[in-house]
Amino acid sequence: MKKTLALILAACMSLSLAACGGGNSSAPAASSKPATSQPAASQPAAGGDTKTVGIAMPTQSLERWNRDGAYLDEQFKAAGYNTIVTYSDNKNEQQVNDIQNMLSQGVDLLVIAAIDGNGLNTVMNDAGAAGVPVIAYDRLIMNDNSTYYVSFDNYTVGKLQGEYVRDALDLDNAAGPFNMEFTAGDPADNNAPFFFNGAMDVMKPYIDSGKVVVPSGQTAFDAVATDQWQTDVALDRAQNVLASFYADGTKLDAWLCSNDSTSMGVTQAVTQDYAGGNAVVITGQDGDVANLRNIKDGKQSMTVYKAVANEAVVTLDLAKAILEGKTADASLISASGWDFDCAYDTESYETTPGHKCPSFLLVPDVVTADNMEEKLVTPGYYVVGADGYLEATNG
Ligand code: BGC
Repeated sequence: MKKTLALILAACMSLSLAACGGGNSSAPAASSKPATSQPAASQPAAGGDTKTVGIAMPTQSLERWNRDGAYLDEQFKAAGYNTIVTYSDNKNEQQVNDIQNMLSQGVDLLVIAAIDGNGLNTVMNDAGAAGVPVIAYDRLIMNDNSTYYVSFDNYTVGKLQGEYVRDALDLDNAAGPFNMEFTAGDPADNNAPFFFNGAMDVMKPYIDSGKVVVPSGQTAFDAVATDQWQTDVALDRAQNVLASFYADGTKLDAWLCSNDSTSMGVTQAVTQDYAGGNAVVITGQDGDVANLRNIKDGKQSMTVYKAVANEAVVTLDLAKAILEGKTADASLISASGWDFDCAYDTESYETTPGHKCPSFLLVPDVVTADNMEEKLVTPGYYVVGADGYLEATNG
């Protein structure tokens, strides 16, 4: 069995049905990990000097992090490491405490998906002083003690969303003008501007030429950002925009959302409050189960899928190399045997001006109603449930 699929099946066995089976993307998904920030130390593996890896995830209230936490925990344990896994309820202070506790417990390496990329300086400096390597997981930590960064190509995620809207509206051929709005992510998340810029770079020429109009006038990242990626925050803003700029019958053609939790709020607002009869093109990211239902039902148009199981594979192999004192650069990819693409990038991500963080970047993919089964079911990430909708694999 391929390395990736074996991992997914193993990891999903540790997820409860609720975590695998979905629910609203803004609702906590149950998992085998505690919902509190209390560190959950795994049983020591055999052997005297078993190394311990601290895995700090942001929250269980956004679906994907439950998957990431479970995959990482499962993999590191299977490779013989002790693990400590925390979820910090999207509170920066809590994550600082959680990481501090891990350092006190003598972890050998940290894997951190930061809540606030600028909010971890104290613990990152402590980790640096203690010689504990840190893998910034998915979200870059803006501190030079970030030893490596493992993520997807975040700019490309946004670019894929922009290109989807461009093609769905046939902007190069249709007369237009078309009306669209934007919803971006959390300003504390270093990824969020990458997603937004990738999308905006595709859309801007059409906005500049007048082919695309943004009736709200809100085209700057700060104006369309969503605190903590919350569904309710995205919903509120979308309702306000619809009431202020579309209540007079103005047609809405597309709403570019940076991810699925925000897309969920926008889709709800459009479904309830938009009076027009046309289908609105709405984008997303992550493949959250509730959003996949909306895609199948035609309420959301696409999601950019990132195989987080593969992100965990890269993280484990990188961590092993670091802990064993081996070279961790592009040669890790050639020697890996991974059955997916990954690029080694030493240019794109800076933790402080001029200080680049070596990065391993995986490749995101577009999922629609038409290719959902091919992209998600065939590789084993999801199964088709009894009701015909996709459910995450539960072993
Ligand atoms: C991740 C996205 C996710 C978002 C909210 C970002 O940092 O890259 O996959 O949708 O956080 O959880």
